[in-house]
Amino acid sequence: MTNTMNNLSQVFTEQNHDIQSEYQGLFNELMDYKNTQEKSNWARGFTEIINDYLNKNSIDISQFPTHTQYSRNYIGKEKSSGWQAMISRWEPGAISTIHGHPDFIFYYVIEGEFKMPFFEKTQTSADTVKHTETKVITPSDTVWSIGSPGCFDNMIHQVKATKPSLALHIFSDDGLKGEIFKCE
Ligand SMILES: [Fe+2]
Repeated sequence: MTNTMNNLSQVFTEQNHDIQSEYQGLFNELMDYKNTQEKSNWARGFTEIINDYLNKNSIDISQFPTHTQYSRNYIGKEKSSGWQAMISRWEPGAISTIHGHPDFIFYYVIEGEFKMPFFEKTQTSADTVKHTETKVITPSDTVWSIGSPGCFDNMIHQVKATKPSLALHIFSDDGLKGEIFKCE
């Protein structure tokens, strides 16, 4: 199969913003955990670290830039491994493409509400998927998935914000390499 897959870098342009350095401590704590714990513990540990952070600090949605759909605000990138994390701010009604992620992906809802339809690949073509289920996630809910090493089609899904919303995302590689799909 030739690699004609589209990826998220083709749909994101001005939504990307510089690293917000005030979250460097939180990012470092997440990466320290990842670097010293088994993969099977990561999601639980990340959840505890973020819960603990939010018990001591508030994250104000107004500090993040608005965009017609959503803004992506990196909070850190680990150069040696490629891991990165960001906080995204979503406008009500904002909707993402159907996309996949690198082999570890973790979402934590900070504020608002998201509808998240999930999809699976079909036999029709490499970039065609069909809907399987939809989750509704609200503050402190998490969604995460472990895929095959090196993949960018992990946890194929779409994100729809129903309210002004914030989410924290942790990726094991460049999130913009996530593949884009269409629903059959
Ligand atoms: Fe995603």
